[in-house]
Amino acid sequence: MADSIVIFGADGYIGWPLAVHIGNKYPEKKIVLVDNLATRKLVKSVHSRSLVPIKSIPHRIATYERVTGHNNLEFVFADARDSELVDTIFRKYRPESVVHLAQQRSAPFSMIDQEHAMYSELNNVATNMNIIYAMARNVPAAHLVKMGSMGEYGQPGIEISEGEMEIERKGRKANVMFPLVAGSYYHLSKIFDTFNVKLANKIFDLTATDIMQGVVYGTRTDEMIDDDLATRFDFDSIWGTLINKYVIQAVALNKLLIYGKGKQKRGFLSLYDSINCLTLLVENPPKRGEYRIVNQLDEIYDTLELAGKVQTIGKEYGIDAGLEYVQNPRVEKDEHFYEVETKILPSLGFKRRKNLDIVLHEIFEAVLANRSRIGDSKEMIYPTVNWKSAKANRAPLFKLPKEMLSVVGPEDMGYEADELPIKETLEVKN
Ligand SMILES: NC(=O)c1ccc[n+]([C@@H]2O[C@H](COP(=O)([O-])OP(=O)(O)OC[C@H]3O[C@@H](n4cnc5c(N)ncnc54)[C@H](O)[C@@H]3O)[C@@H](O)[C@H]2O)c1
Repeated sequence: MADSIVIFGADGYIGWPLAVHIGNKYPEKKIVLVDNLATRKLVKSVHSRSLVPIKSIPHRIATYERVTGHNNLEFVFADARDSELVDTIFRKYRPESVVHLAQQRSAPFSMIDQEHAMYSELNNVATNMNIIYAMARNVPAAHLVKMGSMGEYGQPGIEISEGEMEIERKGRKANVMFPLVAGSYYHLSKIFDTFNVKLANKIFDLTATDIMQGVVYGTRTDEMIDDDLATRFDFDSIWGTLINKYVIQAVALNKLLIYGKGKQKRGFLSLYDSINCLTLLVENPPKRGEYRIVNQLDEIYDTLELAGKVQTIGKEYGIDAGLEYVQNPRVEKDEHFYEVETKILPSLGFKRRKNLDIVLHEIFEAVLANRSRIGDSKEMIYPTVNWKSAKANRAPLFKLPKEMLSVVGPEDMGYEADELPIKETLEVKN
């Protein structure tokens, strides 16, 4: 394991619990947390907020130190679109492992209008390219753990392989990458990443794990033993993820919103398991110079099946939620075959930490405890972005904060420059 591990996107839903988990497991290692706090700002821009209150980064780190007794987390405010700053981070910390989560991660957000689509693609491609190049220049032996999405595969109608697949054409056989077909500009940005990482592997011998992750659900992980360590939990239809949103719909609307026929299938895993899988992948890099694709999911459900599970557990909390069928705002097949090969994580020892029923109880408890924070934002729970009709250059309802169009500093995000380390304060020893 490396002496230092850099996590880009460490203020996020997955990044923060990952930093706490790896930091606590390896107190002798420095864990460098990099983020520009974009998600905090962009969730506000669609008139929403995390349902579970979250603390500022300095407060989170102080709580981590108090609770664990370790002081190995170091935060660097950096917009990963700034190539010089990313390079400086690599020159200063020389990590052997890098986890890249720092991207705009909402498909509906990317489909609001042209400006949001462009922001999502440019942000995501730039962060990835800056990290790839800075690694090739400064730490060529380091391992990149790049977070992609199962959505990169689309709905192919055959079993999704993990890595390459064999094809045959006119009597000749070849191994090719599994076809990647996006359903949103967000997912397309992840496909660009996959090809950019693969090319960097071919040209610069970059050692990389490209994770195709399913939809994550849950509010907590084992280390979240103090409320001030809580990770964000998004409830609105733009930033929330499916299972989390169902519980919120059950509590706030007393019904679950089913898109189309509800027969669309997805892979899911709990936040516990996302963190465990990421840790396993950091701990078990591929051979030096290898590129590996990992399918990271636990179970596959169709959306109606999941709604049934949420309805059942809801009854234990006195909630008898009905179903409301709404027009599917996405452009996707209503019914489709969906099977996914998952060999690598089980071969590394992956085992489910908690089952869906147990985690659903935890989500209900967190949502019920914070239901007053939904306030008058109930309309945000209904789908607000329709793929087909979002053709505007700028949609009137949701405006992208202008400052997000280029590299941001802490002052753009509402922080005083002396509150957080910034570019000028990063000392680099060459
Ligand atoms: N949550 C899921 O269900 C899920 C599923 C599959 C894949 N993913 C992927 O996992 C990763 C993490 O997702 P998450 O749910 O924690 O999202 P998140 O939005 O909570 O976290 C992403 C973090 O990256 C930061 N960030 C974005 N752009 C940045 C930039 N230019 N510079 C520095 N920091 C930047 C954000 O501020 C945020 O803290 C993302 O790449 C996402 O696409 C998430």
